[in-house]
Amino acid sequence: MCGIIGYCGPRIAAPILVEGLKRLEYRGYDSAGIAVAQEGRLNVVKRAGKISNLRSHVPPEMPGIIGIGHTRWATHGEVTDGNAHPHTDRGGKVAIVHNGIIENYQSLKDRLESEGVTFVSETDSEVIAHLIASFYQGDLEQAVKETVGLLKGTYGIVAMHADEPDRLVGARNGSPLVLGVGEDEMFLASDVTAIIAHTRQVIYLEDGEVVSVSHRDYRTTDLRNNHIEKQIDHIGWELEEIEKAGFTHFMEKEIHEQPESIRRATKGRIDLEYATGHLGGLNLTNRELLDINRVKILAAGTSYHAGLVAAYVLEALARIPTTAELASELRYRNPIVERNSLYFAISQSGETADTLYAMREVQRKGGRVLGICNVVGSTIARESDGGVYIHSGPEIAVASTKAFTSQLTAFYLFALIMGRMRDMSHEQGLRFAQDLDSVPGHIETILGTTGKIQDLAKRYARFDNFLFLGRGINYPVALEAALKLKEVSYIHAEGYSAAEIKHGPIALINEETPSFFIVPDDGLRGKVINNMKEVKARQGPVIALAVEGDDEVASIADDTLFVPHTSELMYPFLMTVPTQLFAYYCALERECNVDQPRNLAKSVTVE
Ligand code: G6P
Repeated sequence: MCGIIGYCGPRIAAPILVEGLKRLEYRGYDSAGIAVAQEGRLNVVKRAGKISNLRSHVPPEMPGIIGIGHTRWATHGEVTDGNAHPHTDRGGKVAIVHNGIIENYQSLKDRLESEGVTFVSETDSEVIAHLIASFYQGDLEQAVKETVGLLKGTYGIVAMHADEPDRLVGARNGSPLVLGVGEDEMFLASDVTAIIAHTRQVIYLEDGEVVSVSHRDYRTTDLRNNHIEKQIDHIGWELEEIEKAGFTHFMEKEIHEQPESIRRATKGRIDLEYATGHLGGLNLTNRELLDINRVKILAAGTSYHAGLVAAYVLEALARIPTTAELASELRYRNPIVERNSLYFAISQSGETADTLYAMREVQRKGGRVLGICNVVGSTIARESDGGVYIHSGPEIAVASTKAFTSQLTAFYLFALIMGRMRDMSHEQGLRFAQDLDSVPGHIETILGTTGKIQDLAKRYARFDNFLFLGRGINYPVALEAALKLKEVSYIHAEGYSAAEIKHGPIALINEETPSFFIVPDDGLRGKVINNMKEVKARQGPVIALAVEGDDEVASIADDTLFVPHTSELMYPFLMTVPTQLFAYYCALERECNVDQPRNLAKSVTVE
């Protein structure tokens, strides 16, 4: 989704801004631009399309040591050069970049137009530049505060004024903004990846806060000018982690990182003596955990699928009624929040608006919400009542892979804790912990079979429709497999419970609609085999993802991929990885932009 970068310091700004935008590319965008101030003037370059297109239009010697940049993901107005940010006022003195949506922009625009302002874009954001200009009396910070006081909606904003060549002002409400504190230089960004090459000292702004930055210092206040003391956080990860490390795509790299990312998610969190898990951030005593009689999971996209698997595991291990729900739906149906329910907001980015707002709605009703997040310091991580970091390292590809398996890992550990407090014996707990511990090794084995998966993708990528079918705990795996394939290869794919195909989807079966069956050696294997035969009887091509040595499944399917044997609850990890690789290789075959699929954004900060 939209990205912001701002620079104020002794160096030439333009290359720093363009490089920062390049690092924000992964979030998904359709146009980009920069504004740089020099000798009382603003120079703005903005273009629809790739950063490379913007870069080719930025003059090589573009002067100016202060500037702002933006990658846009269209919400209001088409993808054009003119709708790209930064936006300026009519005097060309104020430039702004904005993430989020200004809900009352139309009435503000009407008012400004009646005062003679001419708008040059179709965006909601442009009103901000004109409003700042209208309030400006030599103090940019004050003009920004007066402006945001009028805005309804969400924003992360950075503003500059040509007459204040050492000042950037940032304001946040609902869209993330972080201040990077360098040596004699300052950065503002929507995402730390944009600035990690320059500084690791960051300050996360909260909603309602404004930061005024010069190259030497910064001041954080609220809208009423009250000073707010902020703490500097240190970013723990390395620049290399957001680079491709020899892989062709981030998606490929991140799929291959899973043995390591799962190990990181379990590190120090398994207590073998008591055969349980240890999650320090839950902020709940054992007595409080014992009182919980219902768990509800809120999430979107891939994280929602992780939630569906998690619900299954928690019910199986701890016998606590658990449901996962799309956060976007929960928020608007006046959810019933009960005293002894525990909520989880699962979000890789920790910024997804649907999940964040649903979480706030539950909290407003007095509910307790724990976060399962990857991005340290993200909004959901900070606003939740406790939680678990999955420590996957930065996930750059838009399609989520390693975060999914680490989200499962975190939740499996929680299920182990809850299970051991209720139904599970020491021995069962130990076995579960050992099985979880063996998952990374099994995934390494699967990653050794990529050649076979690639070969399969070569033969099947030409189809335009796919069904993914699984049962029980692997039903959400089928949903996730279908989502992955459509996200990156644009092949239409549906995930279903294998039992459900006879209630409708079987009407789609013919020679041109392959069915991808997930068939672990669990109690439902026989039923799934019957479903495979039903598809075969109707000339549907069948791919099976089965357990090593399952000759019966292989004899029915047209093509079979194998995973190692494990215990029933661990199959979601093992079954997911081949489907990620299958989606990846299908996308390559179809020459799709794997890491930045069309229309998608990594972190969707609007509803
Ligand atoms: C976007 C991404 C998906 C992701 C979803 C939830 O739609 O494209 O890949 O699963 O957001 O993201 P979150 O950061 O909350 O896990």
